[in-house]
Amino acid sequence: MTTHTTAEINACCADAYSHPAARFLLGESLHPGGLDLTADLARRMGLSANDRVLDAGCGPGATAMFLAETLGCHVTGVTLEDGAVTELDHRAAEVGLADRISVIRGDISDIDLPQAGFDAAVAECVVSIFARKAEALSRIHDALRPGGTLGLTDVTVNGSLPKALQGIFAVAGCVGNAVSLEEYASLIENAGFTVTECTPLPDIARDFLKGIRKKMMFAEIGAKLGKIPISVESVKMAKGVLKETEELVESGTLGYGMIVAERR
Ligand SMILES: C[S@@+](CC[C@H](N)C(=O)[O-])C[C@H]1O[C@@H](n2cnc3c(N)ncnc32)[C@H](O)[C@@H]1O
Repeated sequence: MTTHTTAEINACCADAYSHPAARFLLGESLHPGGLDLTADLARRMGLSANDRVLDAGCGPGATAMFLAETLGCHVTGVTLEDGAVTELDHRAAEVGLADRISVIRGDISDIDLPQAGFDAAVAECVVSIFARKAEALSRIHDALRPGGTLGLTDVTVNGSLPKALQGIFAVAGCVGNAVSLEEYASLIENAGFTVTECTPLPDIARDFLKGIRKKMMFAEIGAKLGKIPISVESVKMAKGVLKETEELVESGTLGYGMIVAERR
């Protein structure tokens, strides 16, 4: 874990996830596994129509839209980016889901959430970012009704990270502050949940990096042709970090995992 403050991390997240490059590299759904993994998570959590779901760190809201559209859930998203709030409000209204989706801009650890006001919470690729994971999980716990379900998918780290993956951008990118799957499970248990499922997903991590590598190739060509406003040097640097990340996934230091838990 790095030592960046919550304020520094939040500011970096708000900038990084508002940048068009984040959407280009990550796609619509800003987590490894995309909506296929979200569908799997929702199934394992037993989500169904009219469940009130908190989407912690919803970003522009691919998951919120998916849960409302396909399952009929009522979703409240919380995220740090102004732009994501406007975008999700707009998209929900466009497809007639404004009564099923609401979105709040703010830090999940600071905003007012109704106590026991949700049946379930999803946290996809966001707990890894928090500097104060215990406090944030405790807020999510209090927002759930007893018996409510938490579904988490996130980046996992076993061992120490190289310098290139310890900076503030690596924290915002879900790596620098990530912990092992067992540590997430223990934090979740300590926040007042009973973990019912804890599954490593190494293939999700590998496939995610393959996708990023392909997009980097396009970015490199675009930069060389002067078609995109990024320097060739920056793309080369990013490719170096990507290679290092791929090696860490192969060695098992970096991975991805899923946890389902029930609020006690
Ligand atoms: C990797 S993105 C994942 C977005 C979304 N969960 C998804 O899977 O598509 C992480 C998101 O969490 C948000 N985030 C990070 N820290 C947060 C906090 N303390 N409170 C609320 N949102 C936060 C970021 O702003 C960003 O939108």
